[in-house]
Amino acid sequence: MITRTTERTRHCRFLQPFAGTPVSPPPFWLMRQAGRYLPEYREVRAKAGSFLGLCYNPALAAEVTLQPIRRYGFDASILFSDILVVPDALGQKVDFIEGEGPRLEPITDELGLAKLDPIKAQRKYAIVYETVKRIRQDLPADVGLIGFCGAPWTVATYMVAGHGTPDQAAARLWAYRDPDGFGRLIDLLTESSVEYLAGQVAAGCDALQIFDSWAGNLPSVQFDRWVIQPTREIVRQLRKRGVDVPVIGFPRGGSNRSRRFVEQTRVDGIGCDTAMSVGTMKALASTHVVQGNLDPLLLVIGGRAMEDRVRVILDMMRGKRFIFNLGHGIVPQTPPENVAKLVDLIRSEGG
Ligand code: CP3
Repeated sequence: MITRTTERTRHCRFLQPFAGTPVSPPPFWLMRQAGRYLPEYREVRAKAGSFLGLCYNPALAAEVTLQPIRRYGFDASILFSDILVVPDALGQKVDFIEGEGPRLEPITDELGLAKLDPIKAQRKYAIVYETVKRIRQDLPADVGLIGFCGAPWTVATYMVAGHGTPDQAAARLWAYRDPDGFGRLIDLLTESSVEYLAGQVAAGCDALQIFDSWAGNLPSVQFDRWVIQPTREIVRQLRKRGVDVPVIGFPRGGSNRSRRFVEQTRVDGIGCDTAMSVGTMKALASTHVVQGNLDPLLLVIGGRAMEDRVRVILDMMRGKRFIFNLGHGIVPQTPPENVAKLVDLIRSEGG
């Protein structure tokens, strides 16, 4: 078990599990806690115009990061940005189309790779670092600040297909057809992500999360090659550079490989998706910090269905190094009052 204690740890409940201390009630934050379910987000979003325009506006991005902290008092905030900022900064054309999601000019071979420029990416990364500095200034001292990036595999699935896909077929096909060429895309993303994450920490982030939302569809050998290896490399290079904050992996859909994932990547914590049993989470918590895993759709429904499940998770994870979260991001149709109810429940019954 690796423990990380810093001066910040003493003041910040979110960081304490990483220093080896279970916290009661568990610290909590929610993936996509800033987003369209909040009227105050929709207001700022309209002011910003485009979604990427919001991501690259430090004052507005800092404001939407802080909105859910003010409203609910979460123990951690997460930098407001997106995993597709990395391909955009590298020079790929990225758009977010209202009601449809991301659209990218697909990169399907090594010729496409030549268009990506890690040096040029620094310019847009610097805008995000400015956001981190602004958040830090206005964030209460006891609230953690999480920086993030998408894992190379998940980011590549968007870069290669040009949009979100249910099966990630385009990336999987390239990886089978030409593992060396696809490996160069993954290596480039790995290097650039290390740079980006190190910059976020230098600007003031307390912890990092690596989102591998599409890890689940890969057969075992490919999971090792495209999920575990790049994540391990990111962690290794961060440590080599002296970046010592906790790193949380989120290999969504990788449930039955989660033990191998945490051991081989050397992440400090694991985000657990909705499919993971609380028994498996408990087993992982013997060596790692565990975060998760309420179904975000229960947050849409609320009432008894949500409360019963929250109680099961709280009971099973009591006394463990556990951070309460969802198993995936909040969805836009979530009633904000259900989030308030969830927060009350964790505070009143999580002890
Ligand atoms: O509050 C937070 O969690 C921080 C901000 C954050 C966003 N996206 C904001 C966002 C984070 C950490 C992400 C990660 C992200 N982005 C992931 C990994 C996690 C996951 O959900 O699986 C992925 C796959 C993306 C790519 C992405 N961004 C898609 C597919 C979409 C469109 C779908 C949708 O919900 O609209 C986005 C857009 C996006 N990213 C929004 C937000 C708040 C909605 C855009 C809007 O306001 O119009």
